[in-house]
Amino acid sequence: MNIIRRRGWEMPERLATPEHMFLNRRAFLSTVTVGAAALSLAPGFAQAQRVTDQPDPSMDLYPAKRSEKFTLDRPITDEKINGTWNNFYEFNGTKNVVRQAQALKIRPWTIKIDGMVEKAMEVGIDDLVRKFPIEERLYRHRCVEAWSMAVPWSGFPMAKLVELAKPLSSAKYVRMETFLDKSIAPGQKQSWYPWPYVEGLTMAEATNELTFLVTGAYGKPVAKVHGAPLRLAVPWKYGFKHIKSIVRVSFTDKQPKSYWEDLQSSEYGFWANVNPEVAHPRWSQASEELIGTSERRPTLLFNGYGEYVAGLYKGLEAERLWA
Ligand code: MTE
Repeated sequence: MNIIRRRGWEMPERLATPEHMFLNRRAFLSTVTVGAAALSLAPGFAQAQRVTDQPDPSMDLYPAKRSEKFTLDRPITDEKINGTWNNFYEFNGTKNVVRQAQALKIRPWTIKIDGMVEKAMEVGIDDLVRKFPIEERLYRHRCVEAWSMAVPWSGFPMAKLVELAKPLSSAKYVRMETFLDKSIAPGQKQSWYPWPYVEGLTMAEATNELTFLVTGAYGKPVAKVHGAPLRLAVPWKYGFKHIKSIVRVSFTDKQPKSYWEDLQSSEYGFWANVNPEVAHPRWSQASEELIGTSERRPTLLFNGYGEYVAGLYKGLEAERLWA
């Protein structure tokens, strides 16, 4: 098990979380910390995890062919480091959430597509994942907490799902929702959080060629801790937009209020595009630490994806595009 110790750049959790919530969560987190410490001492854990999981029915789709189009300026983040440094508040509010995330049951898994569409539908993940060709893309990921990683995601462009859904011309936004199940996700028992986790995009963002629905990573089905079996990747936006374990995709004419915006709108908004020149109210966004290394790099406007997405925001300069 890889342990990542807190280094100078890592934000104490109280900086990334409103203080009253941080304090309220203390009792809960102390239990989690004990569990996490036990886990780090248990060499059999990874093995046990494999034995208890059912074989994933989509296993044959991976590794998918890598797209040549999306290249990295840094090495791919080590899989173990990436899989042991996560945000998945449904399970707990620390980075050490991989063990608790194993409680997520990813089959059967149904995605509801509804709202302003020609015909609402429900589709099982194994039908959905076989409707479109799966490809691998190397994407950078920039968390709002000033750390970053580089990941070989597999999946399909979100534009394909939009096409399948046949939205009405009056639909302006796509709203996505994560599962809600307190019996497996202890974080969801915390009523001061606005569950379920919600995120949203404009139709133009959802159909941009970079917008990717992730079903795999590192050459296999995506791990539970990264948001199996369906997760969003929008690499020019801060990491909290990358909603995990999606169960519902709705088309609407109202701008969706996302989980973090609902929780702390003074700090997190709808657009959340990466911009090194616009500081978070409590820390600078000028640079980022590559997790698993001691390297710090300057952060790039739109996380380096401006050629794909800058045009989406022409005429929207009055909006709060960078938070
Ligand atoms: N999706 C859900 N449902 N719950 C979460 O807590 N955290 C977000 C995002 N998606 C989160 C989520 C944040 S803040 C980040 S940075 C990324 O997931 C982290 O993805 P990773 O754990 O795979 O690195």
